[in-house]
Amino acid sequence: MSLTNMRTLLKKARAQGRAVGAFSVSSVDMICGVIAAAEAMNTPVILQVAQVRLPHSPLHVIGPAMLSAARNAAVPVGVHLDHGMTEDCIRQALEIGFTSVMFDGSRLPMEENIARTQAVIRMAEKYGASVEAEIGVVGKTESGQPLTAQCADPEDAVRFVQETGVDALAVAIGNAHGVYEGTPELRFDVLESMQGRCGGCALVLHGGTGITPQNFRRAISLGMHKINIATASFMAVHRAAQGAEDYFDMSARMRAAAQAVAMEHINIFGKEAFA
Ligand code: 13P
Repeated sequence: MSLTNMRTLLKKARAQGRAVGAFSVSSVDMICGVIAAAEAMNTPVILQVAQVRLPHSPLHVIGPAMLSAARNAAVPVGVHLDHGMTEDCIRQALEIGFTSVMFDGSRLPMEENIARTQAVIRMAEKYGASVEAEIGVVGKTESGQPLTAQCADPEDAVRFVQETGVDALAVAIGNAHGVYEGTPELRFDVLESMQGRCGGCALVLHGGTGITPQNFRRAISLGMHKINIATASFMAVHRAAQGAEDYFDMSARMRAAAQAVAMEHINIFGKEAFA
């Protein structure tokens, strides 16, 4: 139980036809809220923090808090660095004890993305940690900077997995971080043409906020076994803080909001069937 490698979590989710919710956190309130949700639903989760958020939540402070919460949880919990952009930051997360790291080379030429992912995998192996990579372009960065979305090419996905042996691969299928303008049009045909061709690698759906329950289920049925949720939690926590009577009331409201968002998504992504 408790602190568990992402590889193990995703393998089990895949076998059970569900996805593991990866929830972005930036404070103790959010960490405790997500863990409370996982325990209430008796289902594993991943706690994650993106490199771009570290100016708000320094890695040497939030990282140990995430790990301690995971170790003390009543259910398996992974601790993940989301959108790692530099090798230095990735190494720091591994040194602290993160069980997985993402190297986001999606804006690099394919050859360079493959080579740098391979180097991150070699680094992570020494720590027993798993690695997530990304191909295609997800519309908008994690911090809201606009990007022109570009669907991943299924042939690139197959090649990327074969050449790197990466544990998890985020593939852009028309998804975007942040709040969608209009209804997201996800390219399930792209996922269909990858089906059964990516070996043991789990696909990852970024930009979970605003995707319908029906589309989440369809994405899971087509191989997406890690789903990232950030904006929905940050917005709910921010809303919940309004009108609080004092700091402690605000903290309790923020924790409850993070828990509610995580529970709502775990309900859609599927609950663990413990053997
Ligand atoms: P949202 O902010 O759209 O939920 O996306 C989260 C995400 O993909 C983090 O990497």
